[in-house]
Amino acid sequence: MHRRTFLQYVLALGAIHALPTWCRTTLAADRPALPIPNLLQADAAGKVLLRIQQGQTIFKGKPAKTFGYNSNLLGPALKFRQDQQVTIALQNGLQTPTTVHWHGLEIPGVADGGPQSIIGPGTTREVKFALKQQAATCWYHPHVHGQTGRQVAMGLAGLVIIEDSPSSALKLPNQWGKDDVPLVIQDKRFTATGEIDYRLEIMQAAVGWFGDTLLCNGVEYPRHTPPRGWLRLRLLNGCNARSLNLSTSDNRPFYVIASDGGLLPEPVKLMKLPMLSGERFEIMVDTSDGKAFDLVTLPVRQMGMTLSPFDRSCPVVRIEPLQQTATGTLPDALIPLPPLPSLTGLTTRSLQLQMDPRLDHQGMQELMRTYGSQAMAGMMMGGGGMQHGMQQGMNSEKSGMTGMSGMPMPAGEHNEQKPLDFHTGNRINGKAFDMNHPSFHVPLNRYERWIISSEGDMMLHPFHIHGTQFRILSENGKPPAPHRQGWKDMVWVEGSRSEVLVYFRYEAPATNTYMAHCHLLEHEDTGMMLGFTTG
Ligand code: C2O
Ligand code: CU
Ligand code: CU
Repeated sequence: MHRRTFLQYVLALGAIHALPTWCRTTLAADRPALPIPNLLQADAAGKVLLRIQQGQTIFKGKPAKTFGYNSNLLGPALKFRQDQQVTIALQNGLQTPTTVHWHGLEIPGVADGGPQSIIGPGTTREVKFALKQQAATCWYHPHVHGQTGRQVAMGLAGLVIIEDSPSSALKLPNQWGKDDVPLVIQDKRFTATGEIDYRLEIMQAAVGWFGDTLLCNGVEYPRHTPPRGWLRLRLLNGCNARSLNLSTSDNRPFYVIASDGGLLPEPVKLMKLPMLSGERFEIMVDTSDGKAFDLVTLPVRQMGMTLSPFDRSCPVVRIEPLQQTATGTLPDALIPLPPLPSLTGLTTRSLQLQMDPRLDHQGMQELMRTYGSQAMAGMMMGGGGMQHGMQQGMNSEKSGMTGMSGMPMPAGEHNEQKPLDFHTGNRINGKAFDMNHPSFHVPLNRYERWIISSEGDMMLHPFHIHGTQFRILSENGKPPAPHRQGWKDMVWVEGSRSEVLVYFRYEAPATNTYMAHCHLLEHEDTGMMLGFTTG
């Protein structure tokens, strides 16, 4: 072997490891720093301004048109103290109507920002509220019917941090962006020219819009350098449709301290944390050993979500602890959770989630055609009953008559004359969302038991209810996991039924109803939503 060839060979083989250590460190430092959203508090007069605007963001070296609140992408974290009276001006600088919904906040219907609370292009809407609920990590995002998925994908999402005295007394990490770190996790896909490639077609109406790039606070696989010790991560699964399954690259455990609506009674130690789209959890990780590791998301069994790079552990953010030590602590006890009230005599309501079997079937056919069987999350394999229905739906000529579950088409729709309009292909209790007809009325200040079922299809439905923090009685036919027994506004429904205990404190009139809907945004946008009044 010629000496030159040998050298080239060595360089090619061990390029990185052949470099001196200082040089490798430089390479690691090239990873972008984790962007931290600004903490925005109301001014002395209690006022906050959110300007909804269009801008540009660079992804993978190319500029893309994006939307943001007071910025080009995403938005500030709004911090409210319990009982603080705030007035928020929502200024729409986009060329399209939008709304600002406060996901997880218990506020009156007129402030809730549902699909009826349109802010026209160039106009401003003002909302006022004072929060009674406890400390929590919530979020805000648009809710224009039929456009929610697109506007969120374009970048409209931000966090709401609620603080109260009992939570402040706990001495949890609270240095914003250092040991108290918000992580907005979202997947995206881009066109060849670098634009955000949002589509709502039959495939997305069935399985949701999903991407091939994972972003954390808007950038791909950034690094964060916290002081060493307890690190508090406020996690939001801000994906349109994708479920996550968070874990650490070195298998270090972490402790869940809060769910959607606030702190748990005690930390729950976990190695893996599944998160539905729309859910928040706060976790604590011990970084006192000073070793670097990744927060990762592990593969999930959800249709469409099994494609590369999500077919293996995928990094979210790299954590590289500094020398300096952190001061936050992890108490053994957090915030007491009231016992569940008695269920006898409660009003019960049933919400049956439904996908038009033709949508279910044609959407999956399209998924299969576009991405092959790897996208099917194993649904084609094996011999269970559900798989049977699926196989039949995929392979037989009369398959237009069967959904994925193999259930027959509802009689009224067994009609060749009436083509499928996927924009109304998803329903609750037989009806696609109708803004002008609230589905029912709920009295204030009492518990109700809501049963949400998706028996009859195989898709995942992350279900959400406005105006309330609820308790989960059963989740997809099973008792809820310990970290899902606290305050929640999201519940998992997938081929079975979930029961939640809801309670409303504020009025929602017919002109500004609360919503109950699937938070897979493309299911929501194509009808799997209802409005209801309270008072
Ligand atoms: Cu986060 Cu009605 O939505
Ligand atoms: Cu909401
Ligand atoms: Cu759904």
